[in-house]
Amino acid sequence: MEKKKIIIDTDPGIDDSLAIMLALVSPEVEVVGISIVCGNCPVDMGFENAKKVLKFMGRLDIPIYKGEKKPLKREYIDALDTHGKDGLGESFLENVPGYEKEIDAVTFMADILKREKCSVIALGPMTNLARLIEKDREAFEAIESIVSMGGCFKSYGNCSPVAEYNYWCDPDAAKTVYKAAFDADKKISMIGLDVTRKIVLTPTRLEYIMRKNEKAGDFIKKITKFYYDFHWEWEHIIGCVINDPLAVAYFLDKSICSGFESYVDIETGGISIGQSVVDEMAFYKMKSNAVVLNEVNTEKFWEMFFERITGINN
Ligand code: BDR
Ligand code: CA
Repeated sequence: MEKKKIIIDTDPGIDDSLAIMLALVSPEVEVVGISIVCGNCPVDMGFENAKKVLKFMGRLDIPIYKGEKKPLKREYIDALDTHGKDGLGESFLENVPGYEKEIDAVTFMADILKREKCSVIALGPMTNLARLIEKDREAFEAIESIVSMGGCFKSYGNCSPVAEYNYWCDPDAAKTVYKAAFDADKKISMIGLDVTRKIVLTPTRLEYIMRKNEKAGDFIKKITKFYYDFHWEWEHIIGCVINDPLAVAYFLDKSICSGFESYVDIETGGISIGQSVVDEMAFYKMKSNAVVLNEVNTEKFWEMFFERITGINN
């Protein structure tokens, strides 16, 4: 089977780390690089965290590139309140020395996309992608497919009543990317809160992972403990919503989510800043630039996640 090449554009981040782990144990894909963007944590911290995850997975051969340090226009607001002081659930795992790449994330993307057929799974704010569009639109247009964890359709926001964090953190970038997709006749797969909210890692599920693979379970336990506390405090649920792995799972198996094509635009100011406006009823008579996923087969997701994560052999 020919592996599909993917770039993971990410702000790791607790759930980003789980998404990276899932991708790395999936035989259908080859992760050609990880590009870091500011989001959950500042870029330097995200870079360190990505190294920690790769080290745990025994995959320090995969290149990681540092990307944009701040949103296009908005003041940068991290999400360390959700992900802990170290961005990895206050697990304070040891730093992995060395490993600096000479080129930045946007240059990396521009180079590789012109040479190879690659898809992008975007798990953070879309600032790197927006800068890629500014720098080299042809490279952006060469992306095979884009899956973005972000936005919401009917579900409420997690940063405001209407906005999800990744699009809220850099709404101008998200708007730029959706607009460029529109212009290029591409469709972004939008994995928003409507579907990711249904992916709850409960203590029972975590315990199952522990029983099947103690080492992997232990690592996940360390990085999610803080997330559990956060979810209890804010949402009164026992368990944590893990958004980003669903974007990877959907890329691997399109039958995990279903949805509809639509025109999507992102609000960049005022009380609804960061809102993804999904024109389901085609009021604006615009061609679609997105596939909005609003249904998820959670059993299928967990089947894939358990099988692959418990199979980690590092
Ligand atoms: C998104 O924001 C971040 O906190 C998560 O990593 C995820 O990508 C959910 O709104
Ligand atoms: Ca993320």
